[in-house]
Parts: sequence; structure tokens; C-alpha cells
Amino acid sequence: MAEQQREQRHTIFITGAASGIGRATARAFVLRGWLVGCYDVNQGALDALQDEIGLTTAFFGPLDVTDRRAVLASFEDFGQRTGGRLDLLFNNAGIDAKGPFAAMSWEQIMAVVNVNMIGGMSVIHAGIPLLKATEGSLCLSTASASAIFGTANLAVYSATKDAVKGLTEALSVEFAAFGVRAMDILPGIVDTGMLAPEAKALLPHEGLLRALPAEAVADLVWEAYEGDKLHWYIPEELAAYDVRVTSRPEEARDDRIAGHLI
Ligand code: NAI
Repeated sequence: MAEQQREQRHTIFITGAASGIGRATARAFVLRGWLVGCYDVNQGALDALQDEIGLTTAFFGPLDVTDRRAVLASFEDFGQRTGGRLDLLFNNAGIDAKGPFAAMSWEQIMAVVNVNMIGGMSVIHAGIPLLKATEGSLCLSTASASAIFGTANLAVYSATKDAVKGLTEALSVEFAAFGVRAMDILPGIVDTGMLAPEAKALLPHEGLLRALPAEAVADLVWEAYEGDKLHWYIPEELAAYDVRVTSRPEEARDDRIAGHLI
């Protein structure tokens, strides 16, 4: 059998690529000349992305990150297409479920846990061989500002994003042994399909709660690949907010009980 050709271009594997942050990142990395593997559970949205960015430097695969066999098959396919090269694994697929924890069904709770936490771990675990085989590679996950201080009415979502942050911190130490970097991004509010129009209408135009364009987060993904910070906050002021609520969590709790969002 002919030996597999190693891809000359940089390559990125994106989950949740068909919408919002993933989609903006796919577009941005195609423009940078990377080979972009776009994976998402939503086939219709993947088709629309393919129509937009084409097949020259991108390829597309239906993938439900909660399906372990499909995750393994996707990395197998990705590795064959890239000759085993994976520069950036962007573990980004995620869902939320809004409402009080007490009012949620067990099925709603587990759906969020399965996608954001178990699915994310599955993707990272399956990606390790390719990451190890690629010099300077980065495992980047999308956490959230909800990992800084749990958001009421997004309790399960917050818990899963805290898990993503904790996993990333541990992996940033473990993966260093084989030269792979691990980082996460912690966006505040981003104007994507996840943001309900009625919620968007209530948001301020300035401050920590302003809605950011998905393209700004895609730029941050690039910055992360080029940089060496562990946590990437957007907006940047969230870093100071993290320090404040970590040192005075009761104040943050009481503020929120009093009805302040932040
Ligand atoms: P989005 O809803 O526009 O995109 C999420 C994508 O993930 C969709 O294309 C969806 O089909 C895909 N997806 C959902 N379940 C999947 C599964 N089981 N397997 C594969 N793909 C699946 O939302 P957005 O905002 O772009 O979300 C991307 C990430 O950013 C998520 O992890 C989200 O939690 C996170 N995030 C979003 C924020 C926001 O305000 N929009 C703020 C902070 C973090």
C-alpha cells in the first residue's frame, strides 16, 4: 500500500462547526489556508456551510459527539485525510438548557451533561494520538463565563463548563509530557443560535454582558493557537471578574440573589 502523504498545511478539527462560534472559526481558518475538518450533528447546517466555504480546504462530517463509535470513526477519517496531522483540536460543540434546576427533567439534565462534558471528553480522548503526532499541537475547548461563577437557571450548563475548565487545567499539565498544549476559551455572551432573540433584546451594549460577534471568538481561537495562556477570556475583563468572584464568592452569590446578573 502506498504510504500516506502527510498534509503540508496546518489542520483543525472542529466540533459544533455548523453554527455560531464553530462556524465562524471554520470560515476564519479556511481563510488562513488551513485544512479544516467540520463536524456537527446538524447535517442541514453542515450542508449550508459546505455551500459557503467549499471543499478546497475543508471537509465535512456528520458527528454526534455523544456517539463514541462515531467520534472514533471521525478521527480515523480525519487522520487519513491529513496523513496523521492535527494542529488544533477545537472541542466546541455544546448545548444549554435554561430554567431552574428543580424544574428540569432528568433527561434534560443528562442531555447537557452528555454533550458538553462526556462528549467533550470523548472527543479529546479520541484526538490524543493525532495531537501527539503533531508538533506544537493544541487541544482547545470552549468553556464559558458560566465556569467562573455558576449561572442561575443554567445550573447544569454551568457545571459542565466548570468541568471543561477543570479538565483543561489537568490536561495542560499531563499533555505537556508529550508536547501537546491544552487551553480553553471562556466567552461571555456571544450572538449565536444559543442566544434567544428576546434575551438579546435585553442585553446592554457595553460591559461584561454585551453580546459579542462569533467572529471575535474565532479571532480568539487563532490568538490561543499562537499564544500560551491557559484560559482565554472574552471579553478580556472577565479575567478580573474571575479573580474577584473567586476571592469573594459570597458577595457574588448575594449580589445575584438580590437580582443583579453579575
Ligand atoms: P450554536 O448553537 O450556534 O452552535 C453549537 C453547535 O453545536 C451547533 O451547530 C449544534 O448543532 C452543535 N451540536 C450540538 N450538539 C451536538 C452534538 N451532540 N454533537 C455535535 N455537534 C453538536 O452555539 P454557539 O454559541 O456557537 O456554541 C458553541 C460553544 O460555545 C458551546 O460549547 C457553547 O456552550 C459555548 N458558549 C456559547 C456562548 C454563547 O453565548 N453563545 C457563551 C459561552 C460559551
